[in-house]
Amino acid sequence: MRILFLTHGFNSLTQRLFAELTALGHEVSVEFDIADSVSEEAVALFQPDLVLAPFLKRAIPESIWRQHVCLIVHPGIVGDRGPSALDWAIQEGEAEWGVTVLQAEAEMDAGPVWATAGFPMRRAKKASLYRQEVTEAAVRAVKEALARFGRGEKPTSLAILPDVRGCPRPVMRQADRAIDWRRDDTATILRKIDAADGFPGVADSLFGQPCHLHDAWPEARLRGAPGEIVARRETALCRATVDGAVWIGHVRRSLANSASADNAPAQAGSPDGRSETRWTPAGRHFLYPFKLPATLAFAAESASIPEAPLAGRFTADHVTWQDIRYEEAGAVGFLHFDFLNGAMGTRQCQRLTEAFRWASTRPTRVLVLMGGGDFWSNGIHLNLIEAAESPADESWANINAIDDLAEAILRCESHLTVAALAGNAGAGGCFLARACDAVWARDGVILNPHYRNMGNLHGSEFWTYLLPPRVGTDGAAAIMRHRLPLTAAEAVRIGFHDAVLAGDTAAFRVDVARRAAAMAGEGFTQRIEDKRARRACDEVEKPLSAWRAEELAEMRRNFYGFDPSYHVARWHFVARSPHSWTPRHLARHRP
Ligand code: COA
Repeated sequence: MRILFLTHGFNSLTQRLFAELTALGHEVSVEFDIADSVSEEAVALFQPDLVLAPFLKRAIPESIWRQHVCLIVHPGIVGDRGPSALDWAIQEGEAEWGVTVLQAEAEMDAGPVWATAGFPMRRAKKASLYRQEVTEAAVRAVKEALARFGRGEKPTSLAILPDVRGCPRPVMRQADRAIDWRRDDTATILRKIDAADGFPGVADSLFGQPCHLHDAWPEARLRGAPGEIVARRETALCRATVDGAVWIGHVRRSLANSASADNAPAQAGSPDGRSETRWTPAGRHFLYPFKLPATLAFAAESASIPEAPLAGRFTADHVTWQDIRYEEAGAVGFLHFDFLNGAMGTRQCQRLTEAFRWASTRPTRVLVLMGGGDFWSNGIHLNLIEAAESPADESWANINAIDDLAEAILRCESHLTVAALAGNAGAGGCFLARACDAVWARDGVILNPHYRNMGNLHGSEFWTYLLPPRVGTDGAAAIMRHRLPLTAAEAVRIGFHDAVLAGDTAAFRVDVARRAAAMAGEGFTQRIEDKRARRACDEVEKPLSAWRAEELAEMRRNFYGFDPSYHVARWHFVARSPHSWTPRHLARHRP
């Protein structure tokens, strides 16, 4: 079928559906929802059999849905309607939720149903549920809807569906999200912040200054007067509740008169109130339109807060917030690094390099780099770079820090290393993973092993050394040029990854542990000797330092050269600027 995606952006769910439907043999083209006339033009050019809206914030124009079958992916159960579907489900503690594929009609989310898929809820941020459970359910439901459409079936009217549990819900406002620190218990506060994460966050204040709270984690030991900030650790601040405490990992600072900006009537039509994130001048001050680590956003204020170091530094402590966590099982070490959005700033890379070096002194044989649940890594931290006094200098420091980590992995001779991708990876994060001896990905993971979308960034992380031997010189050039997402299965097929494992996250972890234990067993000595010999041979042919210097010479031009494309693209990326055109590599219908 010819399927036109009409979407707000090429987000992870859209990428996954794009890759899955292409793999099924469908011809897929993408148009961003920029203006009705542009969408109409795309339909006229592509002449699709079907229009699919995986991630749309506005209604499809009547001129399109009257002429073509348009399927909407709604992140809610049958009957649920409105732009805050997941927010309400999390905040109200739903035990089960789902995704519904319905046909676009005059009233938003009220059309007949083509398919639905459910999932059990988990305590997690909204964005995490969206990237995992919602995405998996959406893939199932869209495939079922396409199969039904292909068989010439008709969708089912809501009126005749049995047991419709969902109902229309309004946009969730900051008044619905507000935290009462003197009354709300830890579980309630976590639910409220989770329901607002990654966007819009919960309007609140820290140190008496308004900000939006994001990225909350429970704390079991620390205590204090409800609302009091009792400790800091690396990027996070710990705040006491009536029955415990929570860590606040990230915040968006706002000016006093804008703390309730996403309550404004003008936001009501915009499901996530993204327009609030504009770079808004107010007097001599500016609003940060993106999240920053809490201890950085409130650097001066945080300095007087006592630090709460971890007793075992990297050793896993399951009752507190810990972004780098090490565990061991027999001859296998597991290094988890759960950095928000997979973004790895200079200091995070340095700490992770330290943790990696320490873990490789342990009496184990295999070291598995687990990354985080949602992302393994998305490369250098573009928000921190944007917020730096000199973004060029910070870019340089960050790329060197991530290269140091990649180099430490490449030079590790004591252990076999594995990157186990339970979550997605993008840009430099993909090549950081490839620095390991083996890369295993969860089925369902989406990879974006290219840099060009970030203002033609050349990229480093030894990609020029690592990629061509896996996929060939032409294959490497094609990946960089096409800038398209890859599924885990496709990555294995082209030789970029070594194995695709179970799709279910818990089953994936079991699979990883089993395979890593096997790797540490019979044949280990031979494998580690082969690895050392291969590295020595490569080093003679061309030293790692030469690969790195060549890549960094290009990066230096990107950061400090006369072409500002990288700086412009980074700004638009962190500010989540709305698209004004669809890139040609996605809009295949455009000549
Ligand atoms: N630095 C800072 N933040 C990053 C990031 C990075 N390298 N990569 C992703 N993020 C953030 C996004 O800003 C977004 O933030 P939000 O929580 O405020 O919405 C969040 O992670 C999710 O990103 P999004 O683009 O919505 O996720 P996706 O799954 O749809 O797309 C990528 C994934 C990797 C394709 C996309 O995020 C991307 O292109 N990232 C930049 C990669 C890059 O160029 N890195 C620098 C070169 S090494």
